[in-house]
Amino acid sequence: RRPPRVVNVPAELVIVANRLPVDRVTGPDGEPEWRASPGGLVTAIEPVLRANNGVWIGWPGGTDSGLEPFEHDGLTLDPIALSAEEIEGFYEGFSNATLWPLYHDVVAKPEFHREWWDSYVDVNRRFAEHAAARAAKGAMVWVHDYQLQLVPQMLRELRPDVHIGFFLHIPFPPAELFQQLPWRRQILEGLLGADLVGFQLPGGAQNFVRLVRQRVGHKTHRDLVYLPDGRTVRASAFPISIDVKGFEKLARQESVTARAKEIREALGGPRRIFLGIDRLDYTKGIHARLRAFSELIAEGELDVEDAVFVQVATPSRERVEQYRVLRDDIDRLVGRINGDHGRIGTPAISYLHASYPREEMAALYRAADIMVVSPYRDGMNLVAKEYVACQYDDGGALILSEFAGAAYELRQAWLINPYDLNGMKAALREAYHADAKDLSRRMRAMRKTIKSADITAWARSFLQAMDEVRPAHGKTLLP
Ligand code: G6P
Repeated sequence: RRPPRVVNVPAELVIVANRLPVDRVTGPDGEPEWRASPGGLVTAIEPVLRANNGVWIGWPGGTDSGLEPFEHDGLTLDPIALSAEEIEGFYEGFSNATLWPLYHDVVAKPEFHREWWDSYVDVNRRFAEHAAARAAKGAMVWVHDYQLQLVPQMLRELRPDVHIGFFLHIPFPPAELFQQLPWRRQILEGLLGADLVGFQLPGGAQNFVRLVRQRVGHKTHRDLVYLPDGRTVRASAFPISIDVKGFEKLARQESVTARAKEIREALGGPRRIFLGIDRLDYTKGIHARLRAFSELIAEGELDVEDAVFVQVATPSRERVEQYRVLRDDIDRLVGRINGDHGRIGTPAISYLHASYPREEMAALYRAADIMVVSPYRDGMNLVAKEYVACQYDDGGALILSEFAGAAYELRQAWLINPYDLNGMKAALREAYHADAKDLSRRMRAMRKTIKSADITAWARSFLQAMDEVRPAHGKTLLP
């Protein structure tokens, strides 16, 4: 047995994200247990932390306080507590009812409340202080996502010696939308505390640089911002990816193959299985895709004996009003479609409101003939990449919204505009009837793309850019 590692030594790499990779939940026997936390961020960052042996600071979900740093599955995790008021103000409020809709094209109406902003500032300060206490001299601190945009500046004030990277996992909106935010200048200045600010797409980086020039008045040139104190901040795109090899390996497992077969049989062995897997979020376009599918059935283009739509919706942010409304909407829509078009034992839509482990996801990806990813706006969308990673036999079709970051790389997907219902229907129809040659030509090209740009390549390019922006530290964290 190896002796337990001391977890309180200063760390050379500190990951700061709102969520830890695991949530603390109460198990069936009333005892606390750890469960994988939702969303793409965790999927992407976990391999980076593993490769670098750093510490991850984040919120473990819930309101438990006084939790000590601990090791979980070979990772060093350092929990930060949030009070019930902070969950309401910082997390559900400012992060998810102000910033989230604002940054996603105002798909839902953002709400602006001064108390929520105050809570956002307080919680960001707690994360910054915590990171400052954990980082070794000259360490690299990598801050993630929209919940923590003030941390870079706060941390820099506390620890000018550390190297600060920031990566935004969601879109960064055009100036016309960002400008609505009453605290727009504070957010820009918060981000400028970093040495490197990373975005999913070049457009996000350009939006940011333009706003910094217009609103804060700093000089900029291409992807560089020149601060009055002589510091330079770089803002560039680093499209995030997944552990491609890991997913493919999982997909090839016998147990997964067997489970995929079982899923097909349980669905009555239809000719084609359509699949959607999303957090239950109004940005994902779930409503539009189900409508497109149901219209094809209503018009006799598809028959429920031949085609079924499996929609997995992972519970998310359930106390935020817009998410409750969405859940009821989708429940109603699925009920109506199945009521109108289903037959005994063959519903048109098989709807699951649940979250599943990776093995089950891989089996679903393997079972599905047509993966439908139709967000109105999405930073990247890792589900699209996961699906492609699992198609090791070059089968399967991907229908992908052009408003997902992934559409910039996965050009051979059937690209759709989710607002254009007829266009989406045409793509579903085409993918349904596509011949094996066309499918494999497209899939092969997409697989080539993601294999050469996996999560390791992503982390490497970000860390390399960190080295370039601020080379003084002389040590590298490149995996
Ligand atoms: C997206 C965000 C992440 C977030 C995840 C899950 O992927 O970019 O920052 O953690 O959704 O959302 P939640 O609110 O449950 O953390």
